[in-house]
Amino acid sequence: MNTPMFYSMPDLPFDYNSLEPHMSEEQLRIHHTKYHQAYVNTSNAILEKIDKARKDGTDLDMKSTLKDLSFNIGGHILHSLFWNSLAPEGKGGDISEGLIGTQIIREFGSHGRFKEEFTKAAMSTEGSGWAALALCPETERLMIMQIEKHNTNIYPQFRILLVLDVFEHAYYLDYKNDRAKYIENFWSIVNWNKVNERLEKALM
Ligand SMILES: [Fe+2]
Repeated sequence: MNTPMFYSMPDLPFDYNSLEPHMSEEQLRIHHTKYHQAYVNTSNAILEKIDKARKDGTDLDMKSTLKDLSFNIGGHILHSLFWNSLAPEGKGGDISEGLIGTQIIREFGSHGRFKEEFTKAAMSTEGSGWAALALCPETERLMIMQIEKHNTNIYPQFRILLVLDVFEHAYYLDYKNDRAKYIENFWSIVNWNKVNERLEKALM
């Protein structure tokens, strides 16, 4: 199989209405088909611009091109991870199951303490960004990342296991400006089975 030269949109691993009442069909549909799609389209448009400039032998503004590309590819990758961090309520397993449950206790002391720290990271992300749980490949410690935009404060090579989108576009239809309520409800739709799978794969 040939490796694709451009980015493509992943389908959601569930129906648009299946995260209700925590995430409405309208909110999820717009988020996936408009916002995520825009990051894919823009990434591909920038790549086409780079390809064309190389073919024509014309100059590229490297600084602005690479900045835009980093933001948009980051957006695509994080959204793909986000959809795969979610599951309909009751279908995603539990934080206390599997290796993830024990590793969270080892690092944070308790599941409650982890949720508290992750929630604070998500609440205090400046402007638009993400909270993420990641694994450091060197120390094998779990770490929380507070990602600004889609591409700032990321630790290179860390394996992201769980992400929460705290861009306003992720929750404004359902929660207006109430980011705290959105984060609180996020815990009901986390796909812990997938998070655990990603951790096991990262440690292999
Ligand atoms: Fe988003």
